[in-house]
Parts: sequence; structure tokens; C-alpha cells
Amino acid sequence: MFERDLLKGRNILITGGGTGLGRSMALRFAELGANLFLVARREEPLAQTANDIRAKGAKAGYVTCDVRDFAAVENAIAAAEKELGTVDTLVNNAAGNFIARTEKLSPNAFNAVIGIVLQGTFHFTLGLGRRWIEAKQPGNILNIVATYAAVGSGSGFVVPSACAKAGVLAMTRSLAVEWAPHGIRLNAIAPGPFPTEGAWSRLLPSKELEDRAKNYHPMKRFGRHDELANLATYLLSQQAEYVNGECVVIDGGLWLRGAGEFNDFLELPQQAWDMLEQARKK
Ligand code: COA
Repeated sequence: MFERDLLKGRNILITGGGTGLGRSMALRFAELGANLFLVARREEPLAQTANDIRAKGAKAGYVTCDVRDFAAVENAIAAAEKELGTVDTLVNNAAGNFIARTEKLSPNAFNAVIGIVLQGTFHFTLGLGRRWIEAKQPGNILNIVATYAAVGSGSGFVVPSACAKAGVLAMTRSLAVEWAPHGIRLNAIAPGPFPTEGAWSRLLPSKELEDRAKNYHPMKRFGRHDELANLATYLLSQQAEYVNGECVVIDGGLWLRGAGEFNDFLELPQQAWDMLEQARKK
């Protein structure tokens, strides 16, 4: 799909880069010539992913870091600069989420998700954005949000995440304007269901729930990691230089199904359609 050196010379920092979609994006960027610096809480997956990136011939470094802690974020950026030189691209991918009835949540549960998703994204955006503006160099930021983050959207049972991701989307669009004169571009991706250990164990923790979700999907399938990684590549590449402040949904049409008044007609059996058509002819 892309020329092999599309991301050549780029130094990309990814939060949550050791596992799941962060790992898949990192490997894809490395294939296309980028060097990677990975940040997450657990060392083992970070070391593994960094090795896999090096096996593709790219440079890779990592550091453990809780994105909620701004001092740790500053140290992580300094470590990335030591390893790769100037970082020019940031992917805010680290997330925290769980399915829960909101009235059962503790205030600290809300804090945990807001801290990781909203504050964590702000911490890296601020840390790198300041450096880019100070050094008068361009920068590129991609934020991973969710379809329930959009204006007029939302979702029950994931309220802390919905609030946090809506905030990240507001940050993306606000800074896309504010920092455009500095040559800094920000975009977001709102992924639908892409199977990962982290999300599945929290959001679809049984075969039954997984089957139900797949069956409800208009395409009857989940996303493939390469589909998301390729979209992320495009948005980060120079080819997308005029795309700024955009949020691209990649969910196979799932959220539209939830939004339309008659979308549930998807469930209607053929007989019922025949009956409706007969009624029209009368
Ligand atoms: N339902 C309700 N509350 C929950 C919960 C659940 N499933 N899981 C955790 N909490 C609450 C805890 O009880 C705690 O509140 P308390 O101190 O009042 O008891 C609070 O959330 C923080 O939990 P803790 O385990 O101390 O936080 P943590 O910082 O280690 O973990 C989470 C943060 C909870 C978001 C955890 O799920 C996580 O680290 N996730 C990262 C990866 C991820 O979620 N990926 C999926 C992306 S879709």
C-alpha cells in the first residue's frame, strides 16, 4: 500500500507501545522506515516489541512510564531524545477502560481513566509540543480516541472513558488550530472493535459477549490491526500534510448502525422483507 521509505528518518514516540494496537502501529511504522521509542508501564512487552522492531532493521528504544505522572513523562521524552535524537512524532495510544455501571464506580476509578487517557495525552502533548515550538521545528501528533468521543455521542457503561476521549478529541481540534502556525499537526483516529488482549479482557471478557458484538456488527467482523496501522501511517505521513484536526473513524460502519432510527432492520429475516414488499404492492 505504501512506499517502503514513506516514514524514513521519522522518530516516533508511542505510548502504550508494547502491546495491542500500539505494538501493531509501531511495527508497521518501523517497516516503513521510522525509528521508534515505546513507553508503557510493563517492561517485558516493551522489551519484546523493541526487539521485534530492531529485527526489522529500525532503531528502537523504550522506557517504563506511568503517563499520569508528568515528571515521569518528561524523563521519558529525555530518554527518547537520548536514544533517537529529536522526536518529531507522537502517538498518544495508551488507554485505560472498563465496563461498569457508573453508579458503582468510585471517584478513584474515574480518576484512573481520566488520568491515563486525558491527562496522559496532555502530558506528552505538552512535553513535546513545547520542545517543538521552542526549537521552531514541525511536529505531528496522532491521538487514539473512540467513536463514542464525538460531539453528540457518548456511551453508557464506559463513562470515564467517554469523558476522557471526548476531552482528547477537543484537545486535538483545539491545538490543531492553535499550533498550526508552528507547523504542528494533530489528528485522531476513532477505532471500532479491534481485538487486543487489553481491550478484550476488559470490554468483551467472554466468548458469548464477543459473539454478540460480532453478530451486531454490520460487517459481522472485527477490525484487523494492519487496517488501523495503515490509516495511522497515512495520517502521520507527509501525504496527509493538509489533514489537520480531523478524527477518522475506522469501525466498519458500527457507530452509524447505533445512530440510525431504522438500523435494527438489519436483523429482519428475508421473509419479513418479502412481506413488506408485498404490502407495498397492494
Ligand atoms: N470496575 C470498577 N472499578 C474499577 C475497575 C472495574 N473493572 N477496575 C479498577 N477499578 C477502580 C479500582 O477499584 C480503583 O478505585 P478504588 O481505589 O476506589 O478502589 C481505581 O479503579 C483504580 O484502580 P487501580 O487498579 O488501582 O488502577 P490502575 O492505575 O492500576 O489501573 C485501570 C488503571 C483501572 C484503568 C486498569 O484497567 C489499567 O491499567 N488499564 C490499562 C490498560 C487498558 O485498560 N487497556 C484497555 C484499553 S480499551
